Amino acid sequence: MTTEACPTCSFEEAVAALKEGQLVAIPTETVYGLAANGLDEQAVAKIFEAKERPSFDPLILHFSEISALQACVAFIPDVAHQLFEAFWPGPLTLILRKTPRVPDLVTAGMDKVAVRMPSHPIARKLLQALPFPLAAPSANLFGRTSPTHPDHVKEQLSGRIYGVLDGGSCAVGVESTILDLTSSEPEILRWGGIPQEALENFLGHPLKARTSSSRPSAPGMLEAHYSPGSPLKLLPIGQFPVDIHENDAWLGFSTPLEELPEEQQLLLSPRGDLHEAATRLFLSLRQLGQLQPRVIWAQEVPHEGLGRAINDRLRRASAS
Ligand code: TXA
Ligand code: MG
Repeated sequence: MTTEACPTCSFEEAVAALKEGQLVAIPTETVYGLAANGLDEQAVAKIFEAKERPSFDPLILHFSEISALQACVAFIPDVAHQLFEAFWPGPLTLILRKTPRVPDLVTAGMDKVAVRMPSHPIARKLLQALPFPLAAPSANLFGRTSPTHPDHVKEQLSGRIYGVLDGGSCAVGVESTILDLTSSEPEILRWGGIPQEALENFLGHPLKARTSSSRPSAPGMLEAHYSPGSPLKLLPIGQFPVDIHENDAWLGFSTPLEELPEEQQLLLSPRGDLHEAATRLFLSLRQLGQLQPRVIWAQEVPHEGLGRAINDRLRRASAS
C-alpha cells in the first residue's frame, strides 16, 4: 500500500483492516459504502466520526448469506423470505426486528435493523471472507452526494479511512430501496434501485410510501441531503428556468438549454432512459457543483420506476 491519505487497497488488505476494526470504502451495485464490522460498536463509531454523521441516523447491515441474518434479526416474516428469493442479492433493504447482538449505535437505539444483500461481486466476496456483517452507509461526508466511483470517496474521505476497494463505477447509481416490514403492512421508507412498481407487482398489492419525513422512525430520511455545494432549484417535469444568470448551470433530463453554454450543462439521459439517468445522477451533481455556479437548475424526471428515486434525491438536494 502507498502512503496516499486514502489509498486503493487490495482485497486482502481490506479483509485484514476490517477484521482489525478499521474503515474501508467498498463498491456495491448502488453506491460506494463506508464499511466497518457491524457487530463491533467501536468500529461502527468510527463510521460516524469519519462521515461527520449524527448518531441518530441508523446504518444498514450488509450480508452475503441469509443464514447469517439469524444472529441479527429476531424474526423473519414469510414475506421477507419471498422478497429475499425475488430481489436478493440486489438493491433492496428490509427493516426487521433486531436481536441484542446488533449494537445500539447501528440502529440508533431502535429495536429494528436495516439489512441488505448487495449483488456487487467484490462486496459479496468480501462479505464471504468475513465472519461478521458490514455496517455501511454511503461513503460520503454527511449531507453530501453519494459516491458512485472510488475517486468520489477519495475526494471526501481522504485521511479519514484505511482505504478504498476499487470496483469501478456503480451499475445502479442510486441507493437501495428501503422497505419496512415491521409495521402492520410493508411500507417504503426510501425509493431506490428496486422500483416501487416491481415490489407492488411481486407482492400483488399497492404499497404505502413514507419516504419524505424527519420522523424518528426513519431518522436518516432528512429533507436536506445530497448537497452539490451550490443552491439547486428543482423545476417540475418539462419546465424550464425563466430567470437564468450567466453563471448558472443546468441539469436536464434529456433536453439541453439554449440559454447556457454547453460546458455549464449536463443531461441525465439524452435518450430519456431512467436507468442511465440514475447512474449519472450523483456524478452530474458533483461535476456541476465543481463549477461553483450561482444556481444549479434541475428538472424532475418522469415519476415512475427509478424516476421516483431520482426525483427524491433531486428534491433533497434542492432542500440542502
Ligand atoms: O444502497 C445503499 O443502501 C447504500 C449501500 C452502501 O449499501 N447504503 C446507504 O446507506 O444508502 P445510508 O446510511 O446512506 O442510508 C441508509 C438509510 C438511512 O437513511 C437510514 O436512516 C435508514 O437507511 N435506516 C437504517 N436503519 C434503519 C432503521 N432501523 N429504521 C429506519 N431506517 C433505517
Ligand atoms: Mg447516504
